[in-house]
Amino acid sequence: MNIGVFASGRGSNFQAILNAIQGGALPARVTLLLSNKSDAGAMEIARSCSIPAVHLSQKQFPDEAPFAAAMLSVLKAHDVQLIALAGYLKKIPAIVIREYRNRILNIHPALLPSFGGHGMYGHAVHEAVIASGAKLSGATVHLVDEEYDHGPILLQKSVPVEAGDTPETLAARVLTVEHEIYPLALKAFVENRVTIHERSAWIH
Ligand code: GRF
Repeated sequence: MNIGVFASGRGSNFQAILNAIQGGALPARVTLLLSNKSDAGAMEIARSCSIPAVHLSQKQFPDEAPFAAAMLSVLKAHDVQLIALAGYLKKIPAIVIREYRNRILNIHPALLPSFGGHGMYGHAVHEAVIASGAKLSGATVHLVDEEYDHGPILLQKSVPVEAGDTPETLAARVLTVEHEIYPLALKAFVENRVTIHERSAWIH
């Protein structure tokens, strides 16, 4: 299966996906890395692995329709069958979500449905978890629909929130489980072991 990874930042989840593929744990190919940031670390990783790295930003277009059309044409040109959002900070145009319904995954650095939604990314998430007094956080892989962090949950793994945690220490603990569960969720998808019914998604 051909995966297109979308990333805006350093790309450690992208790297974890590539490692899983290289180690034989994920039977797939990454045929595209798309970023809204030309200088994203993920773009560098792609270039160093000879994976097509495409910079595509809404700012290059007058409005959403031509941007979405360009995104679809890039996806088609690289024969992308499954999209993995890995720290992609922009909303996916609705037309792309329709075209790839139930074939777009995202990883979120907390246990959804808590601590998600618009503006909940990066340190804001971990700050909110610590401020809430929650004793568990973790990572969530979910399907992407038209709302931020809202589609069916596919896989989660928790980590403890420890006394004295800062957003940085908690983020680091969560990131290790992100790197573990994202390739696993993608593998289940690639192997056709995912059943989706309304708001429920299950791995068999
Ligand atoms: C991760 O914490 C992920 O959960 C969130 O964005 C961050 C991306 O980190 N969606 P990286 O670029 O993969 O290192």
